Amino acid sequence: MKFFSGASNKPLAEKIAKKLGTELSPLEIHIFPDGEKRVRVLDKVVGEECVVMQPTSPNPDINYMELFFIVDALRRSGARRIKTVIPYLGYQRQDHVFRIGEAVSLEVIATLLKWGGVDEVISFDLHSIKIPEIFKIRLTHLSALPIFAKEIKKISNFKFQISNFVLVSPDMGGIRRIKILSQMLNNMPYAVIEKNRDLATGRVTMSGIDGKVKENAIIVDDMISTGGTIVTAANLLKNKGAKNVYVCATHAVFSKDAPKILGSSFLRKVFVTDTIDIPKEKHFAKLEVLSVAETIAKEIKNSKS
Ligand code: R5P
Repeated sequence: MKFFSGASNKPLAEKIAKKLGTELSPLEIHIFPDGEKRVRVLDKVVGEECVVMQPTSPNPDINYMELFFIVDALRRSGARRIKTVIPYLGYQRQDHVFRIGEAVSLEVIATLLKWGGVDEVISFDLHSIKIPEIFKIRLTHLSALPIFAKEIKKISNFKFQISNFVLVSPDMGGIRRIKILSQMLNNMPYAVIEKNRDLATGRVTMSGIDGKVKENAIIVDDMISTGGTIVTAANLLKNKGAKNVYVCATHAVFSKDAPKILGSSFLRKVFVTDTIDIPKEKHFAKLEVLSVAETIAKEIKNSKS
């Protein structure tokens, strides 16, 4: 097996390679003055199973194009099978038509991956469990929930204070996620916020909460983009009596001023994973980054061709 990485999250790729007891296979990626790329595989891959890792945030279009070119170069160089690890799968929120006239961007991506020569995709905490249905190739859906469960056990001093904790989904779409996490945490109680987003402006409003708010609330979400959802949810929880609010969100998209607004909010701690590389300037004191390297390495080792 040969393991390659695009440029978007080399630190995670290197961690995974180490856990697999291998090194990243060499690629040459030349960028022309106008931004076009020329990709060349510098390893022998004839008859090999090749794995390529490339999360697609930030700059989804640039990262997807680079991934397509790497896959094409591998296929032309004789790779037997190509698996892509896309820990953060860009465009996953556009998985159906929300308003008449819209494109289903994720379906376009799924088609391009398949026709480009990808045999399998491995990804993490997808926005909807229906997403694998869009793909006509195998999509393995991994989750960071077991990683978060370990951290929550630590902060809740598990056996003694569980009754003071509640898991919170900031929207109805996340209910399945918190039910699974609750089971991992000895049936920790959970609540769901009623959230509305104006599709034209992106503005988030929250009208209420279904479930009992406790002293310690843990908001669980698949991703943080602008931070609007998390901060609005945290304020609602505070108004309803929560004293300590924590966040567990898999993908740190961190667009716009997200690090600033999360860092200056009254949140106690924000747990995210390294599915997306977080540059130093986006780190803040309350942020803790947990690695998904072990989970991905295990999946690569165990999954059969
Ligand atoms: C939405 O349904 C997702 O689960 C996230 O809650 C959302 O994408 C977060 O976006 P933002 O941080 O911009 O509110």
